[in-house]
Amino acid sequence: MPRQELVLIGASAGWMLPTPWLSQFEAVHAWDIDPLAAPLFRWRHGQALQKSATHLHWHTGDGFAALKTCLLERPEAFYWFDNVLGQLRFTGQDVPSVEQQLRRIQKQMRSVAWGSVHDRMSGPCSPLSALPLAQQGVAPMAIESPQAQNWLHEMGAISPCLDHLTEHVLPQGTQVQHTAWDFKPGYAHWLEMGWCPANT
Ligand SMILES: C[S@@+](CC[C@H](N)C(=O)[O-])C[C@H]1O[C@@H](n2cnc3c(N)ncnc32)[C@H](O)[C@@H]1O
Repeated sequence: MPRQELVLIGASAGWMLPTPWLSQFEAVHAWDIDPLAAPLFRWRHGQALQKSATHLHWHTGDGFAALKTCLLERPEAFYWFDNVLGQLRFTGQDVPSVEQQLRRIQKQMRSVAWGSVHDRMSGPCSPLSALPLAQQGVAPMAIESPQAQNWLHEMGAISPCLDHLTEHVLPQGTQVQHTAWDFKPGYAHWLEMGWCPANT
């Protein structure tokens, strides 16, 4: 994956991003719609990024709206959607519109190297079951597939779970990792993460 420029969408404070990983890049262009994200990100990673001479460029605003221009300006960058694609579910759009937007994003990203960590499902789970270790897979993993059902079973998921509509976000055949995140007692998120090279 490219290591010169990183474009981060939904960066927030970069809670889930290891500072050494960010420090590999010569420049980071971070987007978040929340005005509090920039100071928190700087507080968390700023000093280390200065040490590694990584130029941090902050953009407070809608990272999805900015994508078109950003892709034209930075075709060689690595694009990372940082736990944001699964949140489109909450933007007030109906389900088909969210699915359409996610398909559009996948198409839009075809010419660049990109990746995402996103929610697949979230909901109540048995407080008695220990969450499973991360598992490898290949996108897309259909909810009704035996592998997905087994994974949800291992998480102790209790129906109904919320589907974040991200099953088809990553291109078919992308290697992914499935992780169970202990969001709060008795409530877990199934996170999926994966990345793919530019389709040249
Ligand atoms: C679930 S949080 C993830 C935050 C962070 N990446 C993390 O892992 O802790 C989703 C983030 O996406 C941001 N966000 C939501 N819609 C956005 C948009 N249209 N453009 C940029 N950021 C957005 C939110 O403000 C929030 O900080």
